[in-house]
Amino acid sequence: MKIPEQVIQKILSARSLVFFTGAGISAESGIPIFRGKDGIWNKLKPEELANFSAFLRNPDLVWEWYNHRKQIIHESKPNAAHYAIARMQEYFNEVIVVTQNIDNLHRRAGSKIIYELHGNIERNYCVKCRTFYNEELAFEGKAPVCKCGGLIRPDVVWFGEYLPQDQFTASEEAANNCDVFFIVGTSAVVYPAASLVYTARKSGAFLIEVNIEETEISRNVNESLIGKAGEILPQIVEAVMNKQGR
Ligand code: OAD
Ligand code: ZN
Repeated sequence: MKIPEQVIQKILSARSLVFFTGAGISAESGIPIFRGKDGIWNKLKPEELANFSAFLRNPDLVWEWYNHRKQIIHESKPNAAHYAIARMQEYFNEVIVVTQNIDNLHRRAGSKIIYELHGNIERNYCVKCRTFYNEELAFEGKAPVCKCGGLIRPDVVWFGEYLPQDQFTASEEAANNCDVFFIVGTSAVVYPAASLVYTARKSGAFLIEVNIEETEISRNVNESLIGKAGEILPQIVEAVMNKQGR
């Protein structure tokens, strides 16, 4: 697809960029998305796995599911979309990633400022004494247990839980202060994360959506670019690079 000239101009004149990302940015790395026809929530019900009471009821099952996802994530690599965002750091003073993903791929691609709204699959903590276990925890069919006897859980946000306050506050500030707000590979239906789109809009930022299809928010953005993130974002970087004469 051809990126409209006015979009490139808007980006070039920006001082601060925010990339708000969801599962779709990691789809090309081989990590399944949640919704849509191939989404994992079609096969598994979130309320049976991704909430605290499900965990207390059946910690081994919830661990098995996260362990399975962890393996997929370990075997995957950042894709062209993650790298394109990281490359933007060469051209702009402030490039902030606000992600709903728990997969670490932005960090592995080299992005420096990353706010994680839904936690991180690499971290775990004891639900009783809050000790963190960040190293690889061995999972052998049984949910791991802390020295204190408490159950250890993955440090991810489950349905019905609050987002990490510091990460959300920093994200709101970024959405409020940016010139261009990208919305990449997210269905933008899960709140409060999706509210950041409206925070950015209210603050007067130029909103650019990148998605393989139209979403709930497509009508509320300035530009909706339909296509794969791994193709569109590198094209944007190239256009920026050419205009800046690098
Ligand atoms: P979804 O699965 O809801 O949405 C993924 C979006 O990515 C869809 O709009 C797809 O059209 C789009 N997409 C797929 N492949 C793409 C590609 N190659 N390039 C661009 N776009 C592509 O995932 P999220 O919006 O991230 O929360 O879901 C939000 C939250 O719901 C997740 O963080 C998770 C889930 O429940 C928690 O676990 C708390
Ligand atoms: Zn403990």
